[in-house]
Amino acid sequence: MANQGRSKTASRKNSPRRDRSPASVFINERRLLRDLNAISKIGIGSGGSVTRLVFSVKDLRSRQLLMHLLGQAGLKIHIDRIGNIFGRLEGLHPNAPAVLVGSHLDTVMHGGKFDGTVGVVGALEAVRTLKEGRVPLASPVEVVCFVGEESSRFGFSTLGSSLLAGEITFEDLTHAVDQDGTKLGDILSNMGIYWENLASLKRAPSTLKAYLELHIEQGPILEAKKKKIGVVTSIAAPTRFRVIFVGQADHSGTTPMEMRKDALVAAAHLIIAIEEVCLKFSHVNKGRVVGTVGALKIEPGVINAIPGRAELSVDVRSIKAEAKDRVAKLVKSKAKEIARVRGVKVQFLPIRSENPVALDKDIGSLLEEICEDKGLPYEIMPSGAGHDAMQLAKITRAGMIFIPSRRGISHSPMEWSDPKDICLGTQVLLETIVRVANEAL
Ligand code: GLV
Ligand code: MN
Ligand code: MN
Repeated sequence: MANQGRSKTASRKNSPRRDRSPASVFINERRLLRDLNAISKIGIGSGGSVTRLVFSVKDLRSRQLLMHLLGQAGLKIHIDRIGNIFGRLEGLHPNAPAVLVGSHLDTVMHGGKFDGTVGVVGALEAVRTLKEGRVPLASPVEVVCFVGEESSRFGFSTLGSSLLAGEITFEDLTHAVDQDGTKLGDILSNMGIYWENLASLKRAPSTLKAYLELHIEQGPILEAKKKKIGVVTSIAAPTRFRVIFVGQADHSGTTPMEMRKDALVAAAHLIIAIEEVCLKFSHVNKGRVVGTVGALKIEPGVINAIPGRAELSVDVRSIKAEAKDRVAKLVKSKAKEIARVRGVKVQFLPIRSENPVALDKDIGSLLEEICEDKGLPYEIMPSGAGHDAMQLAKITRAGMIFIPSRRGISHSPMEWSDPKDICLGTQVLLETIVRVANEAL
């Protein structure tokens, strides 16, 4: 996603120093990196890739380790019905709304060690440091690990945080199917989780003071601009759907070219068309749109048969809702045109369509102030990737802190963030938690 950000180089001269007591409380860097590494080993595969798909055994194992660490830190653990994990540190006013801090532990297929995990382990480290340092906090603080932020298994993202925000419908869940045809609804009911129980997971906004999330940038901007921290202003939202072309499976040797109804060739034309359409919407200021076909299923999928069925996943994203919606519409009309010209049928299956989300301006200003105070160069920027924060922003004030990603690579075994940056981001998170937990509402 394009940078639409503004650069800031911290200048302490201009910011008068006020009482900022958390500056004397420092995270335990060794412990943070030790726990990050321990979680990263769960699901490790070839080339250092990590795979912990939602509801897989590896995902559950990583969550088990987190619960152990939350317990060791003396936090009060609560697991809700979908499996979101909370570790609570009480504040001076136990009935005050809580500051939620976290991210996710599930990963994409063959992903990296940092996406989501940095935010969960960073939240844990910040909160256990505050507990050990007996730092006075007016509000309670809860470390949270959300279930199923990644869409790589079901095409459906931010499952746990969407439920907390009351943003999921029964239809959303029934449409969600993985590559093997396993329905999300069936997995849930096998675990004794039913829709009737999930609808009640929505958290009352009155119980929340704010949500904070530390995350790797997953893009190249911070590294390129030599910035240490990204202050996130907004999050691009995806519109996702499946396109299914149905032609005629037939013999690859006997069917003349002009008599074929090849569903995959229709899909190939659509893939090219999506790239062309998105390239026309590449103006950063008008709201750059990106479009991706990341999964393709072909039937019968053998070397000697013409594909009779091709199913594509389409993911269209932008910071600007109108631009994204226009592109999604154009993609659908292109698909219809291709189907008509090639004599195949086309069908669309919705996955989910969301609106871009603005994060809280006051938390953004607070983050800027903290960076100024610490003399850290920072960038004010939108997020092209989706995050749990985009759901939480619907029920509370949400803020996000980015740290640099080497060469901007993410959702790949090559994903890397410098341990020093991870520690720095966690320290900024800690200081933000203290300020937000103690601010008057
Ligand atoms: C989350 O990682 C996303 O797909 O943006
Ligand atoms: Mn993530
Ligand atoms: Mn991700």
